[in-house]
Parts: sequence; structure tokens; C-alpha cells
Amino acid sequence: METVFSGIQPTGELHLGNYLGAVRTWVTLQDQYRCFYCIVDYHAITQPYEPAQMPARARAMAIDLLACGIDPDRATLFIQSAVPEHTELAWVLSSVTPFGELGRMTQFKDKSEHHPDNVNAGIFNYPVLQTADILLYGATRVPVGEDQRQHLELAREIVRRFNARFGDTFVEPQPLFSTTPKILGLDGHAKMSKSLGNTIALAETEAAIWDKLRTAATDPARAKRSDPGTPEKCNIFTLHKFFSDADRQAAVHAGCTTAGIGCIDCKKMLFEGVKADLGRIAARAEALRADPARVDEILARGAAEARKVAASTMARVRERLGLRAAGA
Ligand code: TYM
Repeated sequence: METVFSGIQPTGELHLGNYLGAVRTWVTLQDQYRCFYCIVDYHAITQPYEPAQMPARARAMAIDLLACGIDPDRATLFIQSAVPEHTELAWVLSSVTPFGELGRMTQFKDKSEHHPDNVNAGIFNYPVLQTADILLYGATRVPVGEDQRQHLELAREIVRRFNARFGDTFVEPQPLFSTTPKILGLDGHAKMSKSLGNTIALAETEAAIWDKLRTAATDPARAKRSDPGTPEKCNIFTLHKFFSDADRQAAVHAGCTTAGIGCIDCKKMLFEGVKADLGRIAARAEALRADPARVDEILARGAAEARKVAASTMARVRERLGLRAAGA
């Protein structure tokens, strides 16, 4: 059975972008692959944050993932910092990672441009740690959104360089994209992202979600109710593909292209599906929040399983590199 690995930052907020772009795919892969899903708190410390809040952020993300359908009996769910081999392998890989390639990463360039006061080496090395995450588990498939494509290309380059220098050790991982690898935000232009403030979070109230949907951008060509629209150019129609059945999608498509329905009608129909799906997730999250011991047990079990695999990979890597065995 092939192995899948993916990670998510403990932002404290699972939103429609990372849910539809990645996490829903994670859920569907659990039967076909050996899956490792990781809440990447080591990555998150590259941004300014409040240490006292980190445990709650990581835990909230674990609860959201479980509520979305990550099943601890079919996947290993854990918090990255519980497995120190992640940072250990990252250091090793940094010795075969070309400096120039890291400087070309668009996420690094974006973050440095937008936060010139916080350009630290952790942000620069971020993709190396991400590569270590994947390689520790020998993952061949990595379900991610479009924004991770370049990081995955670099991961494959790092594997080639490592294998060329130290002998065949790692397999090149391939990204797995969903049908919509880039979910747009409420503005209908930029990627949905917490830092851009254009998200709908899974945990929001129905009233808050409707308020955001009501004012979300639609096909700009539909200035008036009587203008026919082009669903393919409308972010709301993209969301219908996730939340509405085929009949409803067809009805929305026909209504929009003939101006038979207005954008608000279309959004009301979308809202019904969103409410049903997110309502189920919210109910499961509520039950998990009421049972903290169960969440602790799941994360501890996940960390123990992950650590076994990670430690055995690191033992092999140490041997390849002529380094001492841990504790020797
Ligand atoms: P993060 O936490 O930003 O996002 C988690 C996952 O959600 C995807 N995603 C989206 N997909 C489509 N449309 C969007 N608007 C959208 N927003 C987020 C992301 O592509 C990602 O798959 N560096 C990673 C976490 C990470 C990782 C890894 C991923 C650390 N180590 C190893 C894969 C393998 C990140 O910050 O994701």
C-alpha cells in the first residue's frame, strides 16, 4: 500500500479553502493508502504568535480534522512537534538543498514582501521542513492545494540530490490535486486564505456564513438581475459543485445563463447545501470538544505511530550519512 502524507498549519481555523482544496481529499484517501496527517506547529512558529495559544490552536485543528472525517482508525493524525525527527531530517536535507531554489519559492517571496519586518531563516527553510515531513514516512502521494505545487517540485529535487549523493534512499513524492486545487475567497479573485481575510470558516455561525455569502462576489458581467451570467466565471457556482447535487447544479446553471434566477436566489440554494454539510461537521466538532480525553488519546496514539516510522527512517539516514546512531 502506498503512503500519503499531508500537513496543515494550526491556524485555529479550518476554512472552505483548505477544507475543499485539501482536507476533503484527505478523507477520501483513507481507504486506499496508508495515511499520515500532520498539524504542522513547527512551520507555524515562523510567523509571530502567542506561545500560550499554540496548544489550543493545534487542538482546535485536530478537532476540525476529525469532525471532517479523518478517522484515527484508518489514518495517523498527529502534531508535528511530538515527533522531533521532523526538524532533525530538515537539517540533514538543508545540506542538499540549493540555496537559490529556496530564494525562488513564491511563498517565500510573498511572505517577505508582505512582512518585511519578519523575514527569518525559518520562512526561507520552510519548504525543507515540509520535504522532511513527507520523506520521513516514505510518502509517494501528497494531497495539497495549488499553492503547494512549487514546494512539491522542490521536494522532488531534494530527493534527487540526496539520492545522488548518499545512495538511493527516498522516493520522489507526487502532489495529488483535487478537482478545484485553488479555492477563491469571497472576493472571487484571490486564493481563500486566513491572512487575506476572505474566508468562510467551518466554525462560523449560520448567520455569519449567510452574511458573507450574501455579499460575496459573483460573475462581474451580471450587473443587473436581468443580465444572463456565465456560471463558469462565478465563484459561487464553483462552490455549488461541492455543496449541491447534480440536479441543483443543472438548475442553477440554466437559471443563471437565462437570467431566470438572480445571484441571491443562487446563493440561497448554495447556502442550503453549505448549512447541511457544515452543520454535520459542527455537530461532530461539538461532541469532540466535550470529550477532550478522547482527542488527547487520538493525538498521543498518532504521535506514537508516527514516531516509530520516523525514527526508523532517521536511523537509516544517519547510517547513510556516516553519523552516529541516536543515543549511541
Ligand atoms: P496550509 O495550512 O496553508 O493549508 C493546508 C492545505 O490546504 C490547501 N489550501 C488550499 N487549497 C485550495 N484553495 C485554497 N484557497 C487553499 N488554502 C489552503 C493547501 O494547499 C494545503 O494543502 N505548508 C503547508 C503545510 C505543510 C504540508 C507539509 C503540506 C507542511 N508540511 C507536507 C503537505 C506536505 C501549508 O502551510 O498548508
